[in-house]
Amino acid sequence: MKKKLPITRTSITFISVFIMATAITLLCGSRGAGISGNAGEADSLKGLKDYYRNYFPIGVSVAPNSLEGAQGEMIKRQFNSLTAENVMKPALIHPEEKMYSWDNADKIVNLALANGMKVRGHTLCWHSQTGAWMFRDSRGNTVTKEVALARLKDHITTVVSRYKGKVYAWDVLNEAVVDDTDPAKVFRESQWYKICGEEYISKAFQWAHEADTGAVLFYNDYNTENPVKRDKIHNLLRKLLAQGVPITAVGLQGHWNINDPSEQNLRDAIDKFSSLGLKVQVTELDVSVLSSRTDTVKTYTPEREKKQMDFYKMIFKVFREKKDVITGVTFWNVSDGRSWIDRPNRRAYPLLFDYDLKPKKAFWEVVNF
Ligand code: XIL
Repeated sequence: MKKKLPITRTSITFISVFIMATAITLLCGSRGAGISGNAGEADSLKGLKDYYRNYFPIGVSVAPNSLEGAQGEMIKRQFNSLTAENVMKPALIHPEEKMYSWDNADKIVNLALANGMKVRGHTLCWHSQTGAWMFRDSRGNTVTKEVALARLKDHITTVVSRYKGKVYAWDVLNEAVVDDTDPAKVFRESQWYKICGEEYISKAFQWAHEADTGAVLFYNDYNTENPVKRDKIHNLLRKLLAQGVPITAVGLQGHWNINDPSEQNLRDAIDKFSSLGLKVQVTELDVSVLSSRTDTVKTYTPEREKKQMDFYKMIFKVFREKKDVITGVTFWNVSDGRSWIDRPNRRAYPLLFDYDLKPKKAFWEVVNF
C-alpha cells in the first residue's frame, strides 16, 4: 500500500493535472476557436460588397430562384448588384413577336430592389439567345432592314420602359465586334449586321436612351483586353460618340483565365476606353483555371489555386486603383458549382466561392487590402 500510495497520489495528481490541462486546452481551444470562429463569422458577415463599399458595387449573375434558401442569404450578404444570367435576354423575355414573358425578369428585379440591390439589364441586342422570329417573316424569309429595325425598336422600347427607374444600367449591345485578328474586320457577321448594316448599333443606343434617359448605356464585349479587338472597339465607340450616340459605358465581360489578360493589357484596356470619357465595368467576371478550350482538368491543384489567387489579387488591385472609372464589378455566377463554364470533365473553378458556397483562398486575396 505504502509503496502504492505515492503512485496513487502521483496518479491522482497526474489525472487532476491532466484534467485541468485538458479543460484549459479545451477552454482555450474552444475560446480560440470561438474567437477565430467569431472573427470568421464576423468576416463572413462582411461581404464583398462591404469591403468594396468605398469603391464600386459588386454584382453577381442570377437565375430567378437564386435568391432562395442558403444561397439567397449568401448572395444578399456578399453582393449589392444583380444581373439576370439569362431571363432578360431577347429570346427569353420576348420569345415571340407579340409575346413578352416578364415573370422571371420581374422576379429578379423585384427581389433586388426589395433587398436594396442595384440591377444591371442584360442584354437588349445580341446575335445569340435571340428569337429566330426577329429575323424572319411568316413565310420564313429574311425580313427587310426596315422590319428588323422596327422590331428592334419595339423590343428595346418595351423592355427598357418597363424597368425604367429600376434597372439602372443596360448592356444595350453585346458582342458586336468580331475577334478576327485582321484589324480591318470590325463587325461580327450577325443577323443584325447582315440585315441592317452598322445602323442597328446607333439605333439601339438611341432607342434605349429615349426609353430611359437616366439609364447608363453599355457596349459590352469579351476579349476587350486583346489589343487588336480593344482597338477595334475603341475606334468604333469613338466614332459613335462623335456622332452623338448616347453610349455612356463599356463592359469588359471579364471571362478570363489565370494566364490572361496580363496586368498591362488590363490596364491599357481600361485606360483606353475611359479616355473616351466612358465609365468601365467588369460585367461577367470569372477566372478559369483552364487556359484554353482544349485544356481539361478535374483537380484544383495547389499551383492552379495559387495562380488564381495571384490573378484575382492583381485584377482587384487594378480595379481599386482605377475606381474613378470602374463603376461596378459583376461575377458571372455565384460559385464554382454554379458556373456556366463548369463541366464534369472540364472543371474551371472560376469564382471566389467553392462548391459549398464557402469563400476560397482567392476570396481573401480580393478583400484583404
Ligand atoms: C451565358 C449564360 O451564362 C449561360 O447560362 C447561357 O447558356 C449562355 O449565355 N457572354 C454573355 C452572357 O454576354 O450572356 C453569356 O451568358 C456568357 C457570355
